[in-house]
Amino acid sequence: MFGSRLPQKPEPPVSAVVTGAGSGIGRAFALEIARRGGAVLCSDINEASARATADDIRASGGEAHAVVCDVSKLSAVQKLARDAEALLAEPVSLVVNNAGVGVGGMPVGETTMADWKWTLGINLWGVIHGCHVFAPKLREQGYGGIINVASTASYSAAPLMGPYNVSKAGALALSETLSAELAGTGVRVTALCPTLVKTNIGANGRITGDTSKLFHRLMDRFGVSPDRVVRMTLDAHRRGDLYVMPQFDARLIWRTKRFVPRSYAMGVGLVNRFGLRRIH
Ligand SMILES: NC(=O)c1ccc[n+]([C@@H]2O[C@H](COP(=O)([O-])OP(=O)(O)OC[C@H]3O[C@@H](n4cnc5c(N)ncnc54)[C@H](O)[C@@H]3O)[C@@H](O)[C@H]2O)c1
Repeated sequence: MFGSRLPQKPEPPVSAVVTGAGSGIGRAFALEIARRGGAVLCSDINEASARATADDIRASGGEAHAVVCDVSKLSAVQKLARDAEALLAEPVSLVVNNAGVGVGGMPVGETTMADWKWTLGINLWGVIHGCHVFAPKLREQGYGGIINVASTASYSAAPLMGPYNVSKAGALALSETLSAELAGTGVRVTALCPTLVKTNIGANGRITGDTSKLFHRLMDRFGVSPDRVVRMTLDAHRRGDLYVMPQFDARLIWRTKRFVPRSYAMGVGLVNRFGLRRIH
């Protein structure tokens, strides 16, 4: 979509590590990478769900393995890299830092410290750990890529989503930094910034009160299939695109924020003051 970096050398078949592969977008990444002929190490904090994804891939004739990994722990992500070396036939050439949780419903000051730490631990530190462990290996290899699953929340500043917005802003900033650092190495970096995608994020997260009701209503009405988002992202990553904003509203918010930032901030403030109660 924006910016392009093509690989310097011919690349072997994809050998991928996907975090949070047991559900939603992560599961869709694992299945689609396998459908395109790649081998996948499916990891998740929930062992049974990671195994179910890997079993489904193998049942369709693909190559997949499953391991447990809590991305909020550096030692667990370091072990994930060792597992990948042991289980995959080829060196890892694609890392999808996808694992994440949804938190919302309370303003800054009332959101608990536990929720801040939980969200940043998984959504931001998980991505930092994935990049810290795998980026040097990919750089040395001279091919492959990293896809970080950020969100439109990376730049939308939606009210009552402080921890989530901060975690996703960090994931986007890290992707942009890494993209600059890896320029010319043959390693691509892509940040996926979707709006609503139909997954289990509502059920698995900590979205409370009226925000939860609104979230579920919007999700039912506007949520898109993870399969479509993933196909678009893998195609864009192959082209070397840094940003993937798969839906119209994701691109509209990005452009409005960039071109009329003060009006955007005023608009979001007005929606918070006068609009949210009516929308609920
Ligand atoms: N669904 C959406 O509308 C949406 C929109 C924008 C961005 N995202 C992002 O997409 C990513 C995937 O979320 P999803 O919507 O598929 O939700 P999901 O709840 O369906 O899947 C998330 C997966 O991550 C796993 N997970 C949770 N904590 C983990 C941890 N500490 N270590 C490893 N795995 C862990 C869960 O077990 C689950 O399998 C997240 O980063 C989320 O923030 C989702």
